[in-house]
Amino acid sequence: MRSDANIAGPMTDPVPGPRTESMGEDVSRETPPPMDDTPIGRAAQLAVEALGRAGEGLPRPDQTRVMVVANQKGGVGKTTTTVNLAASLALHGGRVLVVDLDPQGNASTALGIDHHAEVPSIYDVLIDSKPLSEVVQPVPDVEGLFCAPATIDLAGAEIELVSLVARESRLERAIQAYEQPLDYILIDCPPSLGLLTVNALVAGAEVLIPIQCEYYALEGLGQLLRNVDLVRGHLNPNLHVSTILLTMYDGRTRLASQVADEVRSHFGDEVLRTSIPRSVRISEAPSYGQTVLTYDPGSSGALSYLEAAREIALRGVGVAYDAQHAHMGAHNEQSMVEGIQ
Ligand SMILES: Nc1ncnc2c1ncn2[C@@H]1O[C@H](COP(=O)(O)OP(=O)(O)O)[C@@H](O)[C@H]1O
Ligand SMILES: [Mg+2]
Repeated sequence: MRSDANIAGPMTDPVPGPRTESMGEDVSRETPPPMDDTPIGRAAQLAVEALGRAGEGLPRPDQTRVMVVANQKGGVGKTTTTVNLAASLALHGGRVLVVDLDPQGNASTALGIDHHAEVPSIYDVLIDSKPLSEVVQPVPDVEGLFCAPATIDLAGAEIELVSLVARESRLERAIQAYEQPLDYILIDCPPSLGLLTVNALVAGAEVLIPIQCEYYALEGLGQLLRNVDLVRGHLNPNLHVSTILLTMYDGRTRLASQVADEVRSHFGDEVLRTSIPRSVRISEAPSYGQTVLTYDPGSSGALSYLEAAREIALRGVGVAYDAQHAHMGAHNEQSMVEGIQ
């Protein structure tokens, strides 16, 4: 059966013909429950499952986990991962703040947050010491999710920060002074290792590196890891790479599993069992100001981010993650590797 979860979405699919992501979906749904075998019934069922799962709740961390989503390469899935993981963690019952630290403001856009030039933003926090609480906005449609938006001003901040006191720790101070209770803060970094990224690395304890499953996936990561070491040595002794997430995994290619193996042998336990498939729905969602979790809750992309969020939440409280009990719509490597043999 060809499972076509996308029909459940609010939009009809503008791409005619077979969709690329369905190939990967089939392999990870080997044991469909004997319910409704029509594509529409199946899609509806998946959407309901996804939402049911979203509401199940997960252990909350003892204290706020500040995760820096970084990789100085552009286009590897930093922003996509930040907003969809944040939405997933919020749907699982957490209170989550996304800090948009990229002048492009893509995370703000994807969360449906207004970020034209006059909007109070993370620029004002970093440069003018405006309290974080004065720029944070609630994200429409997702309870418990908030965003500190980035405006285009932030492009100048990299230079303006240079002459300010405590230039590396301005974000950290702002976060320390923020009094709202939060379970997670996810910081979306720009594709560079300048002062904005350094501010994120000083503010957070955990680094989450999204790695795109393609050739040269590991190239350039040495530089990021050296920066993490430097910041740990001089400014933030708690900093460590806690999480690696494989993104844009294409289950039809051997390359994807080869890259995954390489990343796994390089990083080991930091790599999440769940990887994120390449999915048209994931890439469409931002243009509607939505995460894939609200845009198409039953899609493989939504399920994968929900599963990755679950894995992150369980790891945070020291509970082993059991990939065998992963949601059947989510992609984890075992099922994908089987699928390409
Ligand atoms: N799993 C995915 N499937 C399909 N497209 C994706 C996926 N993840 C990201 N993309 C697309 O890839 C592009 C780059 O992703 P983005 O998250 O903006 O990367 P970065 O923030 O690292 O520059 C965007 O157009 C995004 O929609
Ligand atoms: Mg980005």
